[in-house]
Amino acid sequence: MIDINQISILIVDDEEDIRDVLEIALKDIGYTVFLAENGEKALDLFKSEKPDIVITDIKMPVMDGIELLRRIKREKLETEVLMITGHGDMDLTISSLKNEAMDFITKPVNVDILEIAVGKAVEKIVARQKLAEYTEKLELLILEKSKLADHLSSLGLMIGTISHNIKGLLTNLDGGIYVAQSGLKSGNNKTVEEGIGLLEQAADRIKKMIMDILLYSKERKLDKTVVDTKIFIQQIKDIIKLKLKGTSIDFICNDSHSPPTLYFDREFIVAALINILDNAIDACKADAQNKEHEIRFEILKSSDQLVIHIKDNGCGMDSQTKEKIFDLFFSSKKTKGTGFGLYISNSIVKQHGGLIQVSSIKGKETEFKISLPDMA
Ligand SMILES: Nc1ncnc2c1ncn2[C@@H]1O[C@H](COP(=O)(O)OP(=O)(O)OP(=O)(O)O)[C@@H](O)[C@H]1O
Ligand SMILES: [Mg+2]
Repeated sequence: MIDINQISILIVDDEEDIRDVLEIALKDIGYTVFLAENGEKALDLFKSEKPDIVITDIKMPVMDGIELLRRIKREKLETEVLMITGHGDMDLTISSLKNEAMDFITKPVNVDILEIAVGKAVEKIVARQKLAEYTEKLELLILEKSKLADHLSSLGLMIGTISHNIKGLLTNLDGGIYVAQSGLKSGNNKTVEEGIGLLEQAADRIKKMIMDILLYSKERKLDKTVVDTKIFIQQIKDIIKLKLKGTSIDFICNDSHSPPTLYFDREFIVAALINILDNAIDACKADAQNKEHEIRFEILKSSDQLVIHIKDNGCGMDSQTKEKIFDLFFSSKKTKGTGFGLYISNSIVKQHGGLIQVSSIKGKETEFKISLPDMA
């Protein structure tokens, strides 16, 4: 319920006696009261004090009650205005009604009638407040419902995509087992190795997919810590070295302009960067051109930003592909990609208050620039 003390009333009348009577009666009930002896002063007070209710005489010098009513409604439409009318003010009364006055109190003012009229105005104000609160709650509910629907539909899409990928992976596993077994049967070690290679690839993809699903479903707060840059870069190098085994792709890390320490959620940023580096490796492998492939990795400090560059000279991508790379489940790799990677990298960088920018030339190169606010 509303507190009467919170309701303020502006009384406007050129007769001091009437102002006094109304003031005493309304203050007694607990309302906050302001007084003005003419329309102009009333308007100034209205603008500075923003009262909820205005009680005004209809006939006044300087500015009459109707003009005041009009101006108040123009300032703040929801203000409740009560008009004090004398006998024979019929025309003015009709005019007030047309200008949305709430009620009338006839002179001489009866205090009981005044209380009832003000009480009705307060009820109207309370009802309007409640309606605004309900509307706000309803809007929140509708928003939550639509978020839930979005979540459910992306969950459905996710289950569909993952099942499809797992089916593809099972085929790869079957293929690996078949090749390894036939190598064993014929005593051909090379074929066995080939089979194991296929199995390793499939195991790698399963691992990555599970990690991505875990990251996607884990909505946790960032656990930011100060990270030693050299140790961090070494961690990235170790992970990438394993991934590049058996390829001729060069991984070049430049830490000469790196700040000594970094500050972020290490687990998340490693995951975000490895997804981007995984793509760089895939792009180099997918590039049909016979050239020396390399991936460059660099961490720089630029004013209050930490900037991480990852550049590969792999297959690149066209502008249509570039538009979609951060979309969940967008992948151009058919069964070899889920389209999780960059969606997750982007979410992690955004959660840090950062940004990923991409430039690419099809058939030539791709560069990812990850900017993070630097607070180390
Ligand atoms: N360095 C890059 N060079 C060329 N294309 C890229 C590069 N990085 C991303 N892409 C494009 O962006 C798409 C989306 O990448 P994303 O990492 O989200 O999914 P994915 O690699 O296909 O699958 P996943 O990472 O889930 O295994 C890729 O399929 C590819 O078309
Ligand atoms: Mg990827």
